[in-house]
Amino acid sequence: MKIKNICCLGAGYVGGPTMSVIALKCPEIKVTVVDLNESRIAAWNDEDLDKLPVYEPGLAEVVEEARGRNLFFSTEVDSAIEAADMIFIAVNTPTKNYGEGKGMAADLKFVELCARQIARIAKNDKIIVEKSTLPVRTAETLQTILDHTGNGVKFEVLSNPEFLAEGTAINDLLYADRVLIGGKQTESGQKAIQALVDVYAHWLSPKQILTTNVWSSELSKLTANAFLAQRISSINALSALCEATEADVDEVATAIGTDSRIGPKFLKASVGFGGSCFQKDILNLVYLCRYFNLPEVANYWEQIIILNDYQKYRFAKKIISSLFNTVSGKKITFLGWAFKKDTNDTRESAAIYVAEHLIEDGAEIHVYDPKVSEEKIKADMSYLWELKGFTEQKIESKLKQIFVYNSAEDALHQAHAVAVLTEWDEFKTYNWNSIFINMYKPAFIFDGRNILDAEELTAIGFQVKGIGKGYIPQLKREPVF
Ligand code: NAD
Ligand code: UDX
Repeated sequence: MKIKNICCLGAGYVGGPTMSVIALKCPEIKVTVVDLNESRIAAWNDEDLDKLPVYEPGLAEVVEEARGRNLFFSTEVDSAIEAADMIFIAVNTPTKNYGEGKGMAADLKFVELCARQIARIAKNDKIIVEKSTLPVRTAETLQTILDHTGNGVKFEVLSNPEFLAEGTAINDLLYADRVLIGGKQTESGQKAIQALVDVYAHWLSPKQILTTNVWSSELSKLTANAFLAQRISSINALSALCEATEADVDEVATAIGTDSRIGPKFLKASVGFGGSCFQKDILNLVYLCRYFNLPEVANYWEQIIILNDYQKYRFAKKIISSLFNTVSGKKITFLGWAFKKDTNDTRESAAIYVAEHLIEDGAEIHVYDPKVSEEKIKADMSYLWELKGFTEQKIESKLKQIFVYNSAEDALHQAHAVAVLTEWDEFKTYNWNSIFINMYKPAFIFDGRNILDAEELTAIGFQVKGIGKGYIPQLKREPVF
């Protein structure tokens, strides 16, 4: 079966870039990305490519080439479903914030709505591709809904999880380590798998395209994220020990990372991982383990999240204790709000939680991020406080402790301390001499990403505190043994 028309439900961080690359590489396939969010679609269609709703290096160029040729963004969901041979579901699957499984399970209501809508609209056979990250065995649920609600149309459900990371999405899509396609072991299942393999084969080699059964594919996605996050929590756990023992966490990471069995990636100690995926997917994995009555396995994976929360809290606490045990009324400048560099995404960013702790202690948080707006930053904090049950009035009053700037210089003027929350490259190039002159003394820098040159900054006069950097000259130690 040759695919001629693809529709993708969900024009977010995954649907947008993924479909743009498919359209770029498969000019004979018409790709329509649809979303219920009208302003998001309008932004995808904006003439000015700086206004695309997702910031990703290289994305604007891809959209410029394919948009209007064979790539379309639309809110006409029904007609796009009807015309497609293959439908990707790339809608959000956040952690449930209500009812059964609250705070742990994935909320599948958006996915379920997609399945019901497809079943209602479809008039000919279609391949449905799970692109969203889903709990293992969701394909069974989708198949049930499609078969029982549909018009007698035949649906084949495939799992094709997405492994792109934000900030490097276009590169990850163009040069994927692998794509994974799970399908049924039946004849029609194998045909559907082949149809999707043929799409990716436009630019990836057969070696890069793995095919498995549906459940392995679904579970591999949760597992991949759990393993990646586990490495970060492991090195972050060690960063606390480094600070207590004067070992240097970057040196430890290099030392262990050169062992080819361990490898160097995902060993960068930080203020804690963020992003829309790691926490949500691990919580979902933990929930599934408990559901299948595997408490020991659940507790094992849950520790990754516990450690990550500890790391964010530890960073905030270090700021407070270093500033003489109170930040009340003090100006703390945050460099960065996004959960990592080269993205405008702030979901679950460590900055949100560090800000919360500091605001609780009375701090004024002054933020500069090159890609994140004031509106977004305030919405992030309001959402967190709403979840905590704060009244509207209390939220309004707390928001008065947050100030957002378009220039780092203004954000840093007369600050008591600087906290680096995101590893944006531009922070390394600032004139730290003049920043020092304009700050209150002692001038503190808390480098939550270990990107600044601590020696140089110390020479300027800053009190520098990195993650997992234990060496404090004035600390006199007794031998441990
Ligand atoms: P997102 O929130 O950026 O985008 C999802 C979009 O789906 C939203 O624009 C929403 O309006 C739209 N939507 C919801 N219901 C819809 C419906 N019925 N019809 C049409 N559109 C609908 O989310 P995202 O970051 O793109 O993630 C999507 C999925 O991909 C999630 O399951 C996520 O876990 C997974 N994933 C994300 C990443 C990542 O880096 N963001 C990476 C791999 C996998
Ligand atoms: C992750 C997975 O990497 C990707 O494969 C999956 O498809 C989606 O989830 P993403 O969350 O976009 O991607 O970015 P990633 O690069 O994994 O970073 C996640 C968080 O971990 C960020 O906050 C980042 O700063 C942090 N991180 C990453 C570290 O603290 N140390 C590291 O060594 C790597």
